[in-house]
Amino acid sequence: MAKQHMQELLQQMTLEEKAAQLLQLATPFYEGAESGGEITGPMESLGVTPQMVSDSGSVLGLAGAEEVIRVQEAHMAKNRLGIPLLTMADIVHGFKTIFPVPLAIGCSWDLALAERSAEIAAREAAVSGVHVTFAPMADLVRDPRWGRVMESTGEDPYLNSEFARAFVRGFQGKDLAEDRTRVAACVKHFAAYGLAEGGRDYNTVDLSERQLREFYLKGYKAALDEGCEMVMTAFNTVDGIPASANQKLMRDLLRKEWGFDGVLISDWGAVKELIPHGVAEDEREAALKAILAGVDIEMMTSTYVHHLPELVKTGLVEESMIDEAVLRILQLKEKLGLFENPIRGADPAAEQEIIFCEEHREAARELAVKSAVLLKNNGVLPLNPGQTVALIGPFAENSDILGPWSWTGSRQDAVRLDQAMQRRWSDGRLIVEGCGVESITEEQMLSAEQAAARADVIVLALGEDSEMSGEAGCRADIRLPAAQLELVSRLGRLGKPMAAVLFNGRPLDLHGIFEEADAILEAWFPGSEGGEALASILAGERNPSGRLAMSFPYSVGQVPVYYNHFNTGRPKDAPDAQVRYVSQYLDVPNEPLLPFGYGLSYTTFSYSTPVLEQDIMTGDEPLRLSVTVTNTGANAGEETVQLYVRDLSGDVVRPVKELKDYAKITLQPGESREVTFTLNEPQLRYYHADLSHRSDPGRFVVSVGPNSRDTADLPFQLS
Ligand code: IFM
Repeated sequence: MAKQHMQELLQQMTLEEKAAQLLQLATPFYEGAESGGEITGPMESLGVTPQMVSDSGSVLGLAGAEEVIRVQEAHMAKNRLGIPLLTMADIVHGFKTIFPVPLAIGCSWDLALAERSAEIAAREAAVSGVHVTFAPMADLVRDPRWGRVMESTGEDPYLNSEFARAFVRGFQGKDLAEDRTRVAACVKHFAAYGLAEGGRDYNTVDLSERQLREFYLKGYKAALDEGCEMVMTAFNTVDGIPASANQKLMRDLLRKEWGFDGVLISDWGAVKELIPHGVAEDEREAALKAILAGVDIEMMTSTYVHHLPELVKTGLVEESMIDEAVLRILQLKEKLGLFENPIRGADPAAEQEIIFCEEHREAARELAVKSAVLLKNNGVLPLNPGQTVALIGPFAENSDILGPWSWTGSRQDAVRLDQAMQRRWSDGRLIVEGCGVESITEEQMLSAEQAAARADVIVLALGEDSEMSGEAGCRADIRLPAAQLELVSRLGRLGKPMAAVLFNGRPLDLHGIFEEADAILEAWFPGSEGGEALASILAGERNPSGRLAMSFPYSVGQVPVYYNHFNTGRPKDAPDAQVRYVSQYLDVPNEPLLPFGYGLSYTTFSYSTPVLEQDIMTGDEPLRLSVTVTNTGANAGEETVQLYVRDLSGDVVRPVKELKDYAKITLQPGESREVTFTLNEPQLRYYHADLSHRSDPGRFVVSVGPNSRDTADLPFQLS
């Protein structure tokens, strides 16, 4: 019935109206919009007429119930056929209640909390009038120079896929058509944007199809398997063709092979960017290539609305192709209930009630605790409540802790570290000295030294500001800014116990801080409740349990450095390795400083020798591995027991380790728990040279341990 209604509507539309339905414009184009909305790309004059705006299909970056209602009503009054606007926005890690950035959420390894964070983001966004979020970002990342690694859940395809699914479940709920408190999700950036050359935004990606399928496509596919409604194209090329013009990627793979029948949107300006990419002469050709590739909505350029009618009339584009795109958009509007109620969930009263409510803040606090990773600890953490603490550095009293992609959040709402510590170290036992992120005056240095001299222990709050990562936030030098390193070195000379809390959007090169500090707590951008969560960890009320979802390089010169790499023909650690003629750097180790899966706790865990029930796996008989983990310390703590596999001889080279499963367990001091993993043949399948996806009988190694480096390894056979 609904489909028939949409078909009838489509038949009433002129070609010009259809082309305009494929146009997405930013908020300032619309009558009734006063806020300016979210601007995340170049704003140029697009040459769109008022008629095109009235006929356009969707708006980007608009939120706030009253404003959305105003814009929608004005739009409906002008739109000849009464087709409502879809509102889309980047609600990436929270709406007003801001959760830690996705890379931090990845470090929680906690899918239930990740799902809950997306559900809360959806609920707050939905009452504010948002219908679609441009999330999750499922790009696999290996290069911390790329500013957008903060928006991914890291370097592992399995973990990424699990998180992509959890986010989609949280955003969309069980039934988007029924549940008006959720929003449609849009997985991005299709495809392989995480591999941008040199870690530079908008840059080239070139990789084999096998590698694409084995590592990079899995996250997007997982999101679609979970029912994700939309896909966004990437800015990059794939095999020489920009994603937004890539028929092989969109029509052949996404639509035909995977059967995706939802809406495909370009990234901001990506259709017109086919011209500077060098695959289109002009806007007309850009429109032609994008529609042939299967892009339904053109975001923030106007090649479709200007050229599609003429391309149809001259026979270069079949009208049925435009009809399919329009129909998909109308169906999404129908599914979201917009024809019935164009303002859907937008509700100023509900905004007051649920946005940033205590229940949501509590969830943000919990996730910020679970996302923090203890990277080093010589025993200085947790801090002693009786001590005098000097809290020093650019993030000591800074509310820039929400991180990139939090445009609807408000820094004034963020709980700063000094505020939360003040509640615990009262009576003058907390001395706070803030300073700049990239420049610290001599006066600030001296004040910091004086404060530190008066204290028993120094807590440094260091890092990157939110402009230093995120979109267009790439860095070639990923150390802490030089001024902060000088601060660390000067305070280090005092010889006092020193802990550092790091606020940043990427794995950093920790030279200059790792050796100086007695303890390092990686906080990432922890969100609205960050200060409270971190203070509770520093005070020992909570025990850190995060595990790195992305390796920390020893030096930027190693990048990309990731755990699931291939071996070489001359591995450095082979028993017969020579001193010189092996695969190595002369000046730094091959290994990252801190590997994937790594993280410490305020307690310690020991692992028994793992036991395999049998050492032969068949198609019907899975492998069972058991290991007993004991809390050998004095505090209750959470451990993430990780299971990896290596295929020793494949049709193509296989990674030295691949995460296959993990278990999070909480143990009281002295408590032991047996953890049993079951490994099945499908988990050993991979893409062969002929792109078939199957396993190879032969020798494997299964590994278990607290991170990807420190594992116990056992051989087994697949027969
Ligand atoms: O959703 C984003 C995308 O990730 C990067 N460019 C802009 C889009 C819309 O804001």
